Amino acid sequence: MTCRILLYSKVGNTLKVGEELAWELGAQLHEIEVPDCEDGFRARLRQRISALLSKEPQVYTSDQPWGKSDLLILGTPACAGRAALPLRQWLATRPALPDRVALLITSEEASCPSSVVEDLTRLIGRNPVAVMYASTTELPTGAWKSRLSQFLDLCVVRYRQSA
Ligand SMILES: Cc1cc2nc3c(=O)[nH]c(=O)nc-3n(C[C@H](O)[C@H](O)[C@H](O)COP(=O)(O)O)c2cc1C
Repeated sequence: MTCRILLYSKVGNTLKVGEELAWELGAQLHEIEVPDCEDGFRARLRQRISALLSKEPQVYTSDQPWGKSDLLILGTPACAGRAALPLRQWLATRPALPDRVALLITSEEASCPSSVVEDLTRLIGRNPVAVMYASTTELPTGAWKSRLSQFLDLCVVRYRQSA
């Protein structure tokens, strides 16, 4: 089973959970990079102008056969009730996706924000096979791992059923 994880993580929370999932599933982990991390007024102005002129998404990912994965896990923090912009920008490029897509979401809320799941479900055009959720309060204690085996079962059982 070829499993890939593609995630965006600004501060590192989603990356931390993604690394655990990669370990458990033997998956390849890839990050969406936002290239221009310069700060300040001039840098922000330059980014906005280049975004307006090129209309290209300002994100980079490694070139992988995403659509040929048996399972693709897309990871994002909640941002203003949606998936993070870099992941939405990547999905806007209409990459080939496999039938089985699972989600990894982190946020400050006690339970998984349904608006983020709905946002991603619409953007990927299919129901996710499973959703892994970790809140920021659960991360230091690792309490989110109590849901890990259920998530892995859903990923693997559904793979076995359709293989
Ligand atoms: C700009 C911004 C917007 C956010 N919006 C939300 C939100 O709408 N709901 C929520 O529960 N958490 C929100 N958060 C908190 C992040 O989702 C949370 O800290 C997440 O774990 C960060 O993941 P990361 O370390 O992978 O970037 C927001 C954080 C930032 C910086």
